[in-house]
This record gives sequence, structure tokens and C-alpha cells, in this order.
Amino acid sequence: MKLQVNGSEHEVDAPPDMPLLWVLRDLLGMTGTKFGCGIAQCGACTVHVDGSPLRSCVTPVEAVAGRQITTIEGLSADGSHPVQRAWAELDVVQCGYCQSGQIMSAVALLAEVPAPSDEDIDHALSGNLCRCGTYQRIRAAVHRAAELGKA
Ligand code: FES
Ligand code: FES
Repeated sequence: MKLQVNGSEHEVDAPPDMPLLWVLRDLLGMTGTKFGCGIAQCGACTVHVDGSPLRSCVTPVEAVAGRQITTIEGLSADGSHPVQRAWAELDVVQCGYCQSGQIMSAVALLAEVPAPSDEDIDHALSGNLCRCGTYQRIRAAVHRAAELGKA
């Protein structure tokens, strides 16, 4: 099966019902996307498909063949994406486990709403759980990313 991941085509030998998350991590070696719950409840596995956030743990790979998949590795090669810069500037991360999913949801939000309110942020990221409780810093970093994105 052919997959478009981060702008490159990859040929993968996977059963059609294999979760996209396993294909990304185990077959393509892209381990930035995390496994949390496996049942679409935590958001750790969030990637974009055609620009929209999607839970890769419950998405069979056959459903995304031929579509544009973006993972955390695809945001920038050097951490220079405005959301990544804002995250670093505000020192958002605690253990880090949830954070690539948080960032992917934030990027999708900012693509739709360039200057989101607190409510917009809380709503868009409500499916991304953080056991370390970094929600206040995440919210501040989304606002900062909105500013950086304008520059
Ligand atoms: S691992 Fe996919 S939502 Fe938790
Ligand atoms: S930073 Fe630890 S779970 Fe979010």
C-alpha cells in the first residue's frame, strides 16, 4: 500500500486493518506519535489527515491510503514551526508523553482559527489529555504560537 506521509510517498506492507499508529511507529520508524490508550480517548496518537486531526490508534491504515498524512516529524525539520517554538519558549512540556498530540491538535486549530480564544483552545484540545496537568501552559503557548504565526 502507498502512503503519503509528511510529503513523501512510502510503500508499506501492512494488513489493511492495521492501525495507522502501528504503521507510523513500527513500520516507518516515526516514533514521535505516541500510544496512550488505544481507544480514541486520550489524543496522544493525534496526526493530521488532509489537514484535520485524527486518532491514529483507531484508524485502519487502508482508510488513509492516498491521503496526506502529517505527523509531528512533518511540522518542521528543526523545531522551527511557530507552535513548536511557542512550546519551547513557554517550557510547556513536563513528562512529554501527551505533547506531540497536543501540538498536532493546536496546529490544526490555528490553521482554522488564527487567533483563538481561551474557549476555542479548550474546545479544540479537550480530547487531548495531559496527566501532568500542563493545560495552563498549553493554552498560553497556543496564544503565543498565534502571535509567532503572524510574524
Ligand atoms: S492512543 Fe489514540 S487516543 Fe489514546
Ligand atoms: S506532559 Fe506528561 S502527560 Fe502531558
